[in-house]
Amino acid sequence: MSGKVLNILNNKLVTNSEDETTQLGAEFSQIFLKAGNVVALYGDLGSGKTRFVKGICKGLGFLENVTSPSFTIVNEYATKSVKIFHFDFYRVSSASEIVDIGFDDYIYDEGICVIEWADRVRDLLPPGRYDIYFRLGDSDTCREIEITKINCDSI
Ligand SMILES: Nc1ncnc2c1ncn2[C@@H]1O[C@H](COP(=O)(O)OP(=O)(O)OP(=O)(O)O)[C@@H](O)[C@H]1O
Ligand SMILES: [Mg+2]
Repeated sequence: MSGKVLNILNNKLVTNSEDETTQLGAEFSQIFLKAGNVVALYGDLGSGKTRFVKGICKGLGFLENVTSPSFTIVNEYATKSVKIFHFDFYRVSSASEIVDIGFDDYIYDEGICVIEWADRVRDLLPPGRYDIYFRLGDSDTCREIEITKINCDSI
């Protein structure tokens, strides 16, 4: 395993601008992500989740605008090699809304699922996934980001 891989996982990483967070997302996606993976994002409003997703998309070759799918719940981005499903469950208030959009079908699809406010669907997440935690740092432009891989054998 390269030094970069060891450094990205299970460490408190600090970014000092939104571009650095986007760049981290791009590096993470290029090093780790493959078809069928699920990435669960946790953290307060404005902690950088969407900027990171933008980076994931960029890293995988999707260069168009990426914004939170707050009203539609899910956005779909297609690259040459993979589809990315971008969820935001901030406004979801009942489990039936999640079932209604066919969340389970997305999760077990060949696409990559990236989920903001994943704590709201914790019971519905697959056991093998990346869990990524975002925290506000000491200054306005500082964010702490921790990337973890759980149940590694199944992803
Ligand atoms: N180091 C940083 N990383 C990411 N964003 C930063 C950073 N510093 C400042 N920002 C600002 O913080 C905000 C992060 O917004 P973003 O939409 O990514 O947050 P979010 O976690 O997705 O919030 P929400 O829960 O509302 O969807 C942006 O306005 C961005 O400019
Ligand atoms: Mg967001």
